[in-house]
Amino acid sequence: MTARRTLLAANWKMHAPPDGWNAPASPYRAHAAVDVIVFPTALDIAACVAAKCIVGGQHARAEADGAFTGDIGMALLANAGAAYVICGHSERRHGHGETDDDVALQVVAALAAGLHPIVCIGETAKEEAAKKTHAVLKKQIAAIPTGDVTWAYEPVWAIGTGKTATPEHAQSVHAFIRSLLPSASRDAQRILYGGSANAMNARHLLEQDDIDGLLVGGASLKPEEFGEMLAIAASFQG
Ligand code: PGA
Repeated sequence: MTARRTLLAANWKMHAPPDGWNAPASPYRAHAAVDVIVFPTALDIAACVAAKCIVGGQHARAEADGAFTGDIGMALLANAGAAYVICGHSERRHGHGETDDDVALQVVAALAAGLHPIVCIGETAKEEAAKKTHAVLKKQIAAIPTGDVTWAYEPVWAIGTGKTATPEHAQSVHAFIRSLLPSASRDAQRILYGGSANAMNARHLLEQDDIDGLLVGGASLKPEEFGEMLAIAASFQG
């Protein structure tokens, strides 16, 4: 770990908030040592904001408003009390056909709306097998305009599969990602790891120099396990 403040993101995807999320000892609330950000469905954003969680949107369109049935925009998300937004999650890239250009527009709109974007990048299993990881990441990163963003390296083959990247492999990819960032912000930008992160592997992942936090899906829906991950993350902060 480094001087960069650790960020633990709970991506609840299309699930209701887990039982006990709002209990007195909830691990989902703002924390003194770690940036804990909750990404509920759009329907649950208001309740999480009211409970004093730091909240992000799982997705929003770049357009400020318009005839986009079923969607929400960055400014609406900010008005609802969100502070962060995920851009380019692989479930959006692959399930909704979002391209690098779409993700770039979302990042610009997010920054304009005062939201902090978490930009997801990562290769598929096929690309990994073809040894294209670096080329894929290079292209995905080059598409994003320079700005104050957090990156999330999420190898698609590791998401929801239980197949976590080994900490050493993740570290080498994170170091590669960092080498591509503009020199002025290279040391300051956070790079999260996502893909079957859980309480068992969190410590070894967070020990790596260039892993600045975790984007957690499945394990974030289990308050006790997420609480354990938070305790591990907090133990790394001076
Ligand atoms: P997972 O999801 O932890 O369930 O693999 C991570 C993500 O999709 O952000």
